[in-house]
Amino acid sequence: MRFEIITVFPDQISQFIEFGIFRIAKEVNVAQFNVHDLRSWTNDIHKSVDDRPYGGGAGMVLKVEPIAKAISSIQTENSKVIAFTAQGETMNQKMFRNYSDSEELDQLILLCGHYEGFDQRILENFVDQEISLGDFVLSGGEIPALTFMDGITRLLPGVLGNNESHRDESFENSSLEYPHYTRPDSFNNWDVPKVLLSGNHKEIQKWREQKSKEITESRRPDLLD
Ligand SMILES: C[S@@+](CC[C@H](N)C(=O)[O-])C[C@H]1O[C@@H](n2cnc3c(N)ncnc32)[C@H](O)[C@@H]1O
Repeated sequence: MRFEIITVFPDQISQFIEFGIFRIAKEVNVAQFNVHDLRSWTNDIHKSVDDRPYGGGAGMVLKVEPIAKAISSIQTENSKVIAFTAQGETMNQKMFRNYSDSEELDQLILLCGHYEGFDQRILENFVDQEISLGDFVLSGGEIPALTFMDGITRLLPGVLGNNESHRDESFENSSLEYPHYTRPDSFNNWDVPKVLLSGNHKEIQKWREQKSKEITESRRPDLLD
């Protein structure tokens, strides 16, 4: 998968993708991350990417021309354009799974908004999907873009090694994951559940399924629906 991130703060993204799963995904050659400065598609001396809103009001709006130019110079055939907006569909694990499993798609163009957001004509004419990080307002689309890339990248083949552990994780099977413990087996008289020390894999599996059910019922009963 090739991620093309269009932003007015390229350094915010460039720093982040040097580490962790982004670095691994580049090394195992399953993902590429190309960061683009939106200002490189401006012609004026100030490199303006925004302007005042028609109708008045506070804040500035991202202009259509630089984004139109950016998309047309980057976009390839099997591509989707995503804009991060507070009005978009809320990001979730199913979305990550669909994008990471997609065989026909090889490019995702990610538009990070700023200021008051995008000129509506960008959203209506270039964007395939608007995605929100949640019911709150952030100052820019970079953190949602990084979250989105992280969620997809860790599911790409080879990124977590041969480890298919993400198949058991929270949200994969409409449930939350069971609790984990590691050494020591007792700390401050807080003991690890005995069954986990038993070596009995069938019982351990049963305990984990039960805990996953309990935690899902108490914290996220909506997932069970
Ligand atoms: C200050 S916000 C604009 C908020 C917009 N005026 C509104 O009320 O919905 C600037 C940019 O941050 C990003 N952003 C803010 N909140 C977001 C969210 N919950 N999910 C995704 N992107 C968000 C978007 O790219 C947005 O264009």
